[in-house]
Amino acid sequence: MPPKSIRVLRVGQRYVRDDRTFTHLCLVSRALGAESIFLEDAENDLLSTVEEVNRTWGGEFRVVLGEPWRKVMKEAKAEGRRTVHLTMYGMPLQDKIPELRALDNILVIVGGPKVPGEVYHEADHNVAVTSQPHSEIAALAIALHEIQAGEELKKNFGKSKLKVVPAPKGKRVIES
Ligand SMILES: C[S@@+](CC[C@H](N)C(=O)[O-])C[C@H]1O[C@@H](n2cnc3c(N)ncnc32)[C@H](O)[C@@H]1O
Repeated sequence: MPPKSIRVLRVGQRYVRDDRTFTHLCLVSRALGAESIFLEDAENDLLSTVEEVNRTWGGEFRVVLGEPWRKVMKEAKAEGRRTVHLTMYGMPLQDKIPELRALDNILVIVGGPKVPGEVYHEADHNVAVTSQPHSEIAALAIALHEIQAGEELKKNFGKSKLKVVPAPKGKRVIES
């Protein structure tokens, strides 16, 4: 399966400063093959954190701050990218997989505590990772993994300062 172009959008207000959730959304998106994430109201510090991760471990993952979600969805649609909104109320992921794997350009949308109804109506697909409530980070990770049929696990992150040498025990890291 050729690599897909996958971008991630996080929609919805933050009631508390949940920097950890935002950092984890970025790290999971990056590690599991997405090329960028759009976050409406994250802190600027996140940009430097992710840039440092890119410098150390490779790749060119991008964080885009401050773009209104409507604009991101509209532009995605205008360029032919299909929008896949993750929600417990959507259609089961396992039933949508053949259709989703056939797409090359995707915007995966995850919500926060409150997602505007418009997102459900505007999204091309509303997809559930089980019909039980859990977490946007877990839903995103499973959806990225299933959509790419596990190919993202073999992604090469190119030039980096450090590389892990997989080891059955302990930690092996080389400078490259
Ligand atoms: C705090 S949860 C809110 C749960 C929400 N009632 C919903 O629509 O899924 C925040 C985000 O996690 C994601 N999420 C949570 N459970 C999910 C599930 N079972 N399937 C897909 N996405 C889920 C959704 O993107 C949701 O907007």
